Amino acid sequence: MSPTPSQSDDGEANVAFDDLYDLAGPGRYYAQLGRTGYRIPSVVADVVRERFTSVRDPGRPLHVLDLACGYGFNGALLLHGMPIDEVFGGDTPSSAGSELCDGGADIHLVGLDIACNAVRYAVQAGLVHEGFTDDLTAGPPGAACAVALSSIDLVIESGAIGQLYVPCFTAILDAADRPSFVYCPRIDVDQGPVDELWQRRGYECQTLRAAEPYRRPLDAEEAAMVTSAAMRLGRSVDESIVDGYITVDVRLARPAVR
Ligand SMILES: C[S@@+](CC[C@H](N)C(=O)[O-])C[C@H]1O[C@@H](n2cnc3c(N)ncnc32)[C@H](O)[C@@H]1O
Repeated sequence: MSPTPSQSDDGEANVAFDDLYDLAGPGRYYAQLGRTGYRIPSVVADVVRERFTSVRDPGRPLHVLDLACGYGFNGALLLHGMPIDEVFGGDTPSSAGSELCDGGADIHLVGLDIACNAVRYAVQAGLVHEGFTDDLTAGPPGAACAVALSSIDLVIESGAIGQLYVPCFTAILDAADRPSFVYCPRIDVDQGPVDELWQRRGYECQTLRAAEPYRRPLDAEEAAMVTSAAMRLGRSVDESIVDGYITVDVRLARPAVR
């Protein structure tokens, strides 16, 4: 549920994020995100660079699925090395369009999001190589998406869509060949069902970074909702909101070594 619109520090109205996910371009979404100090895609990009791009097979790009890719925030950082503040400016990389993703890390990036306009933007701006709008919470992927998923090595997720992890991850596990997952559950979402999924599917899961700043709450009401939900899950007030930021854990799940 999105909080009621309120006034931010810079005087602009905070609007519910849900209204900003599926527009023709990312300007209003990034303006809103920028005001909240959103930084988590840069943490995800660091993890991918540190742990995955350096150890991939030579001669084959790392195939990465950006689950809930939105307008392609992760692609701007991973494929183009854009500074995060430029992303908030709403600019696309200079290599956008036909010169798709030239000069970036050796990654083949597949974007998936139910927001059709956002995915179209991400593809046209060169922020993903392929884009799909299949809703994995509603059933298995369609044929084209299933083909793309079949070669995925790594799934990344930076949008804190914690309630959707189990159906989405299950559909990906069914379509792909045991990829790794880097994902960012918010402190106020129960991760028990996801941990059970990893166990059932023979995966090991670890927290790479605990209580990372995700973004500032939109208002006091959202802050109170996060804190009370986190406390119901046995987390403390102190780790729910740190230095004014809602927190996420950055987690890595990968096939268990037998
Ligand atoms: C907080 S945004 C994050 C977008 C992007 N990862 C980023 O960091 O800017 C959450 C995204 O989840 C997407 N979403 C919601 N339900 C989804 C679903 N069932 N499958 C895929 N994406 C979904 C929304 O459309 C939205 O783009």
